[in-house]
Amino acid sequence: MKVDKILIATTNKGKLKEFKHLFKDTGITILSLDDMNEKIEVVEDRETFLENAIKKATEYAKFYNLPVIAEDAGLEIEALGGFPGVYSARFFSFKEFGGEEPVQDSIDRANILKVLRLMANEKNRKARFVSNVVFYVPEETGIWTEGYLYGEIVDKPVGEGGFGYDPIFKPEGYQKTLAQLSPEEKNRISHRGKAVKKLINILEKILQWKN
Ligand code: IMP
Repeated sequence: MKVDKILIATTNKGKLKEFKHLFKDTGITILSLDDMNEKIEVVEDRETFLENAIKKATEYAKFYNLPVIAEDAGLEIEALGGFPGVYSARFFSFKEFGGEEPVQDSIDRANILKVLRLMANEKNRKARFVSNVVFYVPEETGIWTEGYLYGEIVDKPVGEGGFGYDPIFKPEGYQKTLAQLSPEEKNRISHRGKAVKKLINILEKILQWKN
């Protein structure tokens, strides 16, 4: 199988930057949904990260007839029974867990404020990020990898880097939040970094790299 282009099924600039960085030594051209002229919408309405990632990978790959990598990721907080989980992107809008959080400056900020409100008097701060990555080539193959990053929720946002819940997540063994790490360091330890590296290791064996 020869693959020289992969479409990353995302419009999230933070995620795309992380993917480009992870694939930088492979010679593969990385495209995103923003590079596609014709747009289709794939709704992430499944109940697990894996099902959402498979849905996105297969629907985009069939529509654009390109190899696709789709990822679904989120934050699981032990004291909240694993929430926000697959609902991480829109947790702010949940009626449950004490009602909707108004969006003032950004959705990321509203999600963070909701989590901090729920965790205000909570002693158990344990949490983990989960990433499920699916690579799909129409009529050829599908591969699934998974990565975790364990850590804890801090009591106020710190740091300017990354995206999403990074300013309130302190990885195990670190005295900084994910938002205070360099992009290289985040990629080295992150859920997505681990899942994508596993995928790259498999692809190296089954694809002929361009260079
Ligand atoms: P999705 O995989 O694009 O649906 O992402 C779900 C949500 O999980 C994002 O909007 C973020 O809020 C959160 N998330 C996923 N990965 C990360 C990460 O690496 N750092 C911080 N938040 C993340």
